[in-house]
Amino acid sequence: MEFLQWMKGEHQEARQLLRKALQSDGRAREQAWQKFCDEMRIHHRLEEKYLYPLGEGFGPTREIAVHAIEETQKTERLLDELDPSASWFAEEAEELQRMLEDHIEEEENELVPKLMDGVPVDQQSKLVQKLQEAKQFEMQSAR
Ligand SMILES: [Fe+2]
Ligand SMILES: [Fe+2]
Repeated sequence: MEFLQWMKGEHQEARQLLRKALQSDGRAREQAWQKFCDEMRIHHRLEEKYLYPLGEGFGPTREIAVHAIEETQKTERLLDELDPSASWFAEEAEELQRMLEDHIEEEENELVPKLMDGVPVDQQSKLVQKLQEAKQFEMQSAR
């Protein structure tokens, strides 16, 4: 599997969870929000470990990677701060949604394509496998 394809799947999952939190309320909203936060935090840990260091170490992607790291930290703060039971939740979650779309756009259209340019698919598959295993591990230790 190409790295970008895997990444798109991860982003899609996160997107759907946030949409669910926005479209529901009460207990369902809290549950969806919690799931979204868990998913995002794991995604961030994987990116910080496997994606951003690669990006920072490669000239053509250095700036995008530094910018992505800043956005990740901003997002992490919002995950901690947002309260799904607060009346202003929808407003702030929509703001987060816009920020996330921007971030995803940059990763999918700039960072990853530039990094994976010329990398053979079997090598990309190995990286994807490593990330899938790391995700499994993170999910188990998050429980
Ligand atoms: Fe990211
Ligand atoms: Fe990402």
